[in-house]
Amino acid sequence: MLKKLFSKSKKGKHSLEVEESLVNNECLPSHIAIIMDGNGRWAKKRAMPRIAGHHEGMQTVRRIARIADDVGIKVLTLYAFSTENWKRPKSEVEYLMSLPQMFLNSFMPELMERNIRVEMIGDKDGLPTNTKTALNEAIEKTKNNTGLILNFAMNYGSRAEIVKAMKDIMVEVNNGNLTLDHVDEKTINQFLLTSSLPEPDLLIRTSGEVRLSNFMLWQLAYTEFWFTDILWPDFNKDTFMEAIQAYQQRNRRYGGLKGE
Ligand code: FPP
Repeated sequence: MLKKLFSKSKKGKHSLEVEESLVNNECLPSHIAIIMDGNGRWAKKRAMPRIAGHHEGMQTVRRIARIADDVGIKVLTLYAFSTENWKRPKSEVEYLMSLPQMFLNSFMPELMERNIRVEMIGDKDGLPTNTKTALNEAIEKTKNNTGLILNFAMNYGSRAEIVKAMKDIMVEVNNGNLTLDHVDEKTINQFLLTSSLPEPDLLIRTSGEVRLSNFMLWQLAYTEFWFTDILWPDFNKDTFMEAIQAYQQRNRRYGGLKGE
């Protein structure tokens, strides 16, 4: 178990107190993306309905957002609903769609106090009105906040995102605003939903599954991956810090040689 403590200084600013040797504040990942998996299994283990697992998963979102903010992470992207999740039973989909409203209503004062900005990636127009309204309102209300970006991937699918980016680029080429010679990696980045964000440095997936499930396929090209068997509702500060510590021990080479 890692010994870590978070505290609020006298000035009210959140600071991180960790064992110096375990977490290096200098090379924190700027952007952490998380595939939050295992809510259903968490509930099943307790003979509870799946939605109870999702509710607990929402509480974990709150806890991890606080810790990410305390640590000084710049962007936290959370995979909350994929384009494939519509295949789930109607009642479960409805519950998942009610979570942003529930979460944002109750967490908004703290989001403002913490200077956290809410963002989302995904097909917003495909969301039910109440979900879309809750997200739009939170995005608008927090748009001038300059701290942690809490970015929800809702109705998000990476392949759909890439297809849309390709089509949008083709339209620009057809209209003569862009030439084929100018279509490069930077151009594609600019047409993705994440155009304003840095690429994730660290990807975490919980619950023992070791796959990407159509999540940020382009953006994760050089991201460090960290998997844990822990189910998302059980994910906590220790696990989060363990992931960051593991990241800090990696040697990111981006295709170059060790030590370069
Ligand atoms: C996958 O686990 C999880 C989801 C599809 C939903 C994740 C959503 C949350 C954690 C809450 C999001 C909160 C907000 C505020 C939007 P699963 O249910 O498939 O678990 P299983 O694989 O064990 O069945």
